[in-house]
This record gives sequence, structure tokens and C-alpha cells, in this order.
Amino acid sequence: MNSEPSTTGPTFTGVVEHGDARGRQLGFPTANLSVSGPAALDGVWAGTVTTLDDGRMLPAAISIGRRTTFYRRGSRLLEAHLLDVDVDLYGREITVRLGLLIRRQIRFTGVEELVRQIGLDVQEVRSWAAIPGAIAIGSLDADGRAA
Ligand SMILES: Cc1cc2nc3c(=O)[nH]c(=O)nc-3n(C[C@H](O)[C@H](O)[C@H](O)COP(=O)(O)O)c2cc1C
Repeated sequence: MNSEPSTTGPTFTGVVEHGDARGRQLGFPTANLSVSGPAALDGVWAGTVTTLDDGRMLPAAISIGRRTTFYRRGSRLLEAHLLDVDVDLYGREITVRLGLLIRRQIRFTGVEELVRQIGLDVQEVRSWAAIPGAIAIGSLDADGRAA
């Protein structure tokens, strides 16, 4: 058994699509990729986003699911909220790597509960990102670019 944080979790690569901008209103803007395939990876994850054009690798809170709080059965979407940076990745190609499953998707009864939970998720991502080796930190330069 290996209890080391994995640096080789499942990855998704694609071009960032427009969301419906609700994430920004909630205080958690996201870069969105449409995903197909099995729902086994649905949930909320700590992971990283790498922007392929400049190689930056940044920690992110990642949600994969159908946003059942808002939609009865929405399309499956991967949404990545980047920690501490506000960059518009629309139209850029990114790779999202899942590191640690934080929880499964929940249908919240209200937006306030969702926002409070996402705040807690972000704290979990911070703890994960601080574990040596969780992010391949050795391969980054001081600006977070892959060296
Ligand atoms: C870290 C994180 C966790 C999330 N967890 C849930 C969840 O448990 N249930 C849910 O319905 N939506 C969840 N969402 C999705 C939000 O509903 C979604 O980001 C918001 O509606 C904005 O949608 P938009 O990107 O289309 O603007 C989560 C989003 C993030 C970033």
C-alpha cells in the first residue's frame, strides 16, 4: 500500500468552455470542461490545473458532476476553481489532474449551503497542496511554471 500523495491521478485535457457565469457570482469562478464517460469519477477533488501554453501548474478545487443543486439532470461537467488566482482560461487548452477525492456530489437545498461547503472544500485542497509531493512542486520554478 502506498500512502504517498499520488502525482499521477486521472487527467482530463481539453479547451475551456464558457460556464453560465454563476460560479463567479458565488465567489468561486471555474474553468469548465465537458466530460463524457463513466460517472465513477464524479465528486469533488483536490488536484491541479496545468495550462498547456505556458506550463503553469496550479492547485485547484475540482467538481465533476451534473450540478444537481441547480439542474434536475444537467450535463456532466468538470469545473476547476483555481486557488488564489483570477485568470480567465476560456478558449485555452488545460490539463486537469485529480489528486485526492474530497467528497461525493451533494444536492444542496440552497445556494448558501453550497457556497459554505465549497469554502470547506477549498480548505481541504490547501491542506492537500501543502503535502510535500502532492503537487510535483520540484518540477516548478518560482512562478509555478513547469521547469
Ligand atoms: C469545489 C466545488 C464543489 C462543488 N460541489 C457541488 C455539489 O456538491 N453539488 C452541486 O450541485 N454543485 C457543486 N458544484 C458546482 C456548482 O454548482 C457550480 O460551480 C456553479 O453552479 C457554477 O456553475 P457554472 O460554472 O456553470 O457557472 C461545485 C463546484 C465547485 C467548484
